[in-house]
Amino acid sequence: MRLKGATRTIRVCWSIWLGYLIVLISLLIGGSSSVRVREYKFEVGYMKKKPDCIENSYVMGINGHFPGPTIRAHVGDTLHISLFNNISTNEPTSIHWHGISQHGTPWADGTASISQCAINPGETFHYRFTVDKAGTYFYHGHYGLQRSAGLYGSLIVDLALGQKEPFHYHSEFNLLLSDWWHNTSFHQELSLSSKPFQWIGEPQSLLINGRGQYNCSMAANTMNNNATLPQCKFRTSDEECAPQILHVHPNKTYRIRIASTTSLSSLNFAISNHKMVVVEADGNYVDPFEVDDIDIYSGESYSILITTNQNPNNNYWISIGVRGRKPNTPQALTILNYQKASISSSNIIIPNSPPPITPQWNDFNRSKAFTNKIHALMGSPKPPTHYDHRLLLLNTQNLIDGYTKWAINNISLVLPQTPYLGSIKFKINAAFDRRHPSENFSNGYDIFSPPINPNANFGNRVYMFNMNQVVDVILQNANVLSGKNSDIHPWHLHGHDFWVLGYGDGKFKQGYDEKNFNLKNPPLKNTAAVFPYGWTALRFRANNPGVWFFHCHIEAHLHMGMGVIFAEGVQLVKGIPKQALACGLTKKIIMSFNTTNN
Ligand code: C2O
Ligand code: CU
Repeated sequence: MRLKGATRTIRVCWSIWLGYLIVLISLLIGGSSSVRVREYKFEVGYMKKKPDCIENSYVMGINGHFPGPTIRAHVGDTLHISLFNNISTNEPTSIHWHGISQHGTPWADGTASISQCAINPGETFHYRFTVDKAGTYFYHGHYGLQRSAGLYGSLIVDLALGQKEPFHYHSEFNLLLSDWWHNTSFHQELSLSSKPFQWIGEPQSLLINGRGQYNCSMAANTMNNNATLPQCKFRTSDEECAPQILHVHPNKTYRIRIASTTSLSSLNFAISNHKMVVVEADGNYVDPFEVDDIDIYSGESYSILITTNQNPNNNYWISIGVRGRKPNTPQALTILNYQKASISSSNIIIPNSPPPITPQWNDFNRSKAFTNKIHALMGSPKPPTHYDHRLLLLNTQNLIDGYTKWAINNISLVLPQTPYLGSIKFKINAAFDRRHPSENFSNGYDIFSPPINPNANFGNRVYMFNMNQVVDVILQNANVLSGKNSDIHPWHLHGHDFWVLGYGDGKFKQGYDEKNFNLKNPPLKNTAAVFPYGWTALRFRANNPGVWFFHCHIEAHLHMGMGVIFAEGVQLVKGIPKQALACGLTKKIIMSFNTTNN
């Protein structure tokens, strides 16, 4: 054992030296412009903050920052993030890099119990992966409700040097949108897991780059719907919960990157007097289209272009408001500040016209109309015309033993102790239920009424695909447990982008609805909503060896079991770091390796 340890140390030293040598050589050859390894040290912990101006809030942050530091890299770069768990409440953690494909590094996907063992307090996990596609992404905690606790940040990938975007802009801004509750994530977790079930309710505030205003309104002096709130008093924009102002010059084009890591809310984003041109969605170029506002669901990201062609003596509101659920949360506001209109750059000049009004929350036709405008930019990869494997996934709210849950084809997901990546790779049969999960649901299911039999079961089976199979997923929405209602669910797939082939109302009719699939220019995305009482059709190629989470991006729904597990080509996965395996039933196996030579 001792000897083995020593050899390992030498090998580890060698690989570290080799790593340094490679970095050194690449720096010498290409200077700072070439592909490189970017090192980050992330320390996760709670800290006292006032995200929406309320004192004494505890937020989960990184290196004392909330939101966590922005990661910015070029296509081809390797990121090495050493994540140290310094959470004082004894919680494990893991971080997912949302939108990054993790091709060749499925163990770095950051999903506890799926791609890795959760990182225990006091431990450090090394995430090493390459970023291969330019775009607007983000990262967030993927353990318990840690995203709701504030564990998130931006991840932006620029094109490799010398490459050009298919559009022009002078400068850019980055807005990470989130929602915030005054109850802690512990409280929320307890509510959701209690019997009878207690819903977490609507968020108290919406945040833009981690800043919101709970007890006041920026726009209180302009006649608008927040008239009951007092005017916010910020002397400068440097105060902790003051909005981050976007300083612009007249007659220029700006790119605004917008990503939503909300726990619950579907949002609408608008800027008064300014049209926006959508150019990117989830890290993929789209056929540019002009709109007054955009809808953005949790897990999505967009880039828009705006032209500062309005009266430069005024400033303009930027607003986000809730859609899709009856809102009980005020709009979040910030300001588009024309440089000419400001006296000193940190002084806040309130626009003299009211902020944009968020469209009716339940105008779902409007939401669908927006979604249907999104098409892939010409020249984007086209979908295969046929599928090999089709899953019909029914989304329902259920009861198990008196507990309220969400289920897919009547199974509410409970993650196993041993992460799937290791247990599938090393064929540890006892780690999870090896039987095939169900690929459809009963034809007679009435999606418009509460379930006749509300009972479901817990489960942890895996949808296994053959390498390179073309998979169709039809997400089917339905009525909730009681009353007449159907929720929006933004579904997010790890490890892949999918083509969104279409949306429809009511129940998907096999052999008929396919005729309307868009096979010409469907957008590639990693997140897509399923609308109330509707269906959404997705297609992807199972070409990324690993085990991948596919789930509703609403934190509470995921916690209540709203997800499924996909796997493909796991036998092709080589070099899973021991750290990712050091728990559950894979723990014993790794004792027998002397290196990470799996
Ligand atoms: Cu951003 Cu598994 O999620
Ligand atoms: Cu959901």
